[in-house]
Amino acid sequence: MIISGSTTQSLATALATELDRPLAPVSFSQFPDNELLATAQTNTDHAIIIASTPTPESHIELLQLQDAVREAGTEKITTVIPYMGYARQDSVFEDGQPISARIIAKALSIETDTIILVTPHTPRTTDFFTVPTTIVNAEPVLADPLPDNLTDPLFLAPDENALSIATSVRDAYGTGETDFFEKTRLSGNEVEITPSDTTVTNRDVILVDDIIATGGTMATATRVLTERGANLIIAACVHPVLTGAARINLARAGITAIHGTDTLERQETSTTVAPVLADHLA
Ligand code: R5P
Repeated sequence: MIISGSTTQSLATALATELDRPLAPVSFSQFPDNELLATAQTNTDHAIIIASTPTPESHIELLQLQDAVREAGTEKITTVIPYMGYARQDSVFEDGQPISARIIAKALSIETDTIILVTPHTPRTTDFFTVPTTIVNAEPVLADPLPDNLTDPLFLAPDENALSIATSVRDAYGTGETDFFEKTRLSGNEVEITPSDTTVTNRDVILVDDIIATGGTMATATRVLTERGANLIIAACVHPVLTGAARINLARAGITAIHGTDTLERQETSTTVAPVLADHLA
């Protein structure tokens, strides 16, 4: 039985179809004092709870679903977190800070037997959970919405950490070069990009990253590529967080298109991770 959080209803439906398993009835409501109440009606030995956690509320909701399912006597709970919020807060960057990813992971480990993360910010995130945690790498599906006739395509990571993701997308697309820029973060929404020597003139460039959040990284990289004569510039990310004015920032920078997966349900969601998750869960 599949139990969906409010953030992943389309993905849960696609996964239920892929696995030929029923969707549990769920409901999401709020009391007048803003407290949340998520409910799930389950009667199963193995529950697959699937919920992304892009907001504080969605973390509470996932904890409630896990507890409700356990309370119903479910023997085995698998929790799938397609997009895990707070995962980027994985270190103490300045004195006095918590390791938010760690405390959240601990809480989400209490009422589950296993966790599955989809392309987390870093593989190290798995270490924070106290139950067996595995990663499903979904980035190859980002090749699906790309045009077939890209001109001399370059799959470019905005920093070295994202090179493996860019390479996976290139491999799935079937042709093209890969490269990476160097990125220095100046603030929450500003970065400095140092380009590589690769020629981009008249080439189609696919900028690939795990997340687009403020769009600062992709917008800065796009400006550099435009100055250097790139043709189409397409942004592809696993998790289209797209917060605040990200879309405007990216449009102003001159990006041609934005593609993301359904780990977050956005207008830019143009491909699904359901088959990859289903393969893992089957
Ligand atoms: C950072 O290491 C990530 O891989 C992304 O590059 C980053 O989170 C994107 O954030 P933004 O869109 O705010 O620049």
